[in-house]
Amino acid sequence: MTDTAQPTATKTDTAAAFKTRVFSGIQPSGGLTLGNYLGALKRFVELQERGAETIYCIVDLHAITVWQDPAALRRNTRELAAGFLASGIDPTRSILFNQSQVPGHAQLAWIFNCVARMGWLNRMTQFKDKAGKNRENASVGLFAYPTLMAADILLYHATHVPVGEDQKQHLELTRDIAIKFNHDYGVDWFPVVEPVIEGPATRVMSLRDGTKKMSKSDPSDMSRINLTDDADTIARKIRKARTDPEPLPETLEGLEGRPEARNLVNIFAALADITPEQAIRQVAGKQFSEFKPMLAELAVERLAPISRRMAELMEDPAEIDRILGDGARRADAIATPILEKTYDIVGMLRTRGD
Ligand code: TYM
Repeated sequence: MTDTAQPTATKTDTAAAFKTRVFSGIQPSGGLTLGNYLGALKRFVELQERGAETIYCIVDLHAITVWQDPAALRRNTRELAAGFLASGIDPTRSILFNQSQVPGHAQLAWIFNCVARMGWLNRMTQFKDKAGKNRENASVGLFAYPTLMAADILLYHATHVPVGEDQKQHLELTRDIAIKFNHDYGVDWFPVVEPVIEGPATRVMSLRDGTKKMSKSDPSDMSRINLTDDADTIARKIRKARTDPEPLPETLEGLEGRPEARNLVNIFAALADITPEQAIRQVAGKQFSEFKPMLAELAVERLAPISRRMAELMEDPAEIDRILGDGARRADAIATPILEKTYDIVGMLRTRGD
């Protein structure tokens, strides 16, 4: 993304001067993986450090589109907040909150349910993957998941949304919803968001199968690195990661058709804050028996302080709750006028006067 704000010309009295505002979210539906860290959290911190206005949300309403045990959901919400903070999110510079504490998300999602078309949602690959064969038994919420995601983003008039590759289709739908809303009501109200899918780790793959995404829902724990894994576990998982018998090539082109090797090189690049080109130059010609310990050492060096800090933060849940509450109030202050104006555009009578 560019560092400079790009105001859009105002066309009607409902138009907003769109400035750069970053929004993103993560589901509290289990532990954080290296994929979440490299594809999302680490980049959230970079955007904060670049001085962007940043709003980060723990999307608990999204999590319940599949069954969540209530006590586990509360614990996972706090643990995810600890993960944000331990990764470097500063709650005085970024807004950090959980979605259900700002009612506007669900309210705007309803309006978007009436804007989005069944055909659009039917095309969503994540729904097909998550619902599996038994679609009839999937929750209505799982089907409508992308309209809530559009509401998350557009409730703040966010312009830039950093995500991993797997969220691209949902962001395209968000753009379609904004365009259709603006068109249907003849306004220039919702911005058309830019996906920010950047860096070497927009799709971190499973350590057991380089053609599958690293995911918290994979049945094999060996397929992923969790942010809560200790140093020995991280090293063991990398040592056991699937590879091929060839040494590492001299160039990125040489990784063609070698998904596991490519994945480990990308992970190395992302952890070392270098490009994949620079990474391959550093490791060219090495056997995996030499490269894997290098990668394990780097992963432990980068991740161990985060998991240590998460554990410390989890000892004070009241402080986490305070941070989320404060974030929710600040988020709500941005969201409420946008929601009210949206209701007005749609023709909802507002007469309570409070
Ligand atoms: P979720 O919770 O599945 O994942 C959170 C973020 O982590 C990224 N990610 C990955 N990146 C690279 N490699 C991987 N293996 C990997 N696995 C996960 C995801 O792309 C995501 O950026 N629908 C979203 C949550 C959401 C949201 C939003 C995001 C709700 N509302 C509004 C942005 C804006 C999701 O399920 O993320």
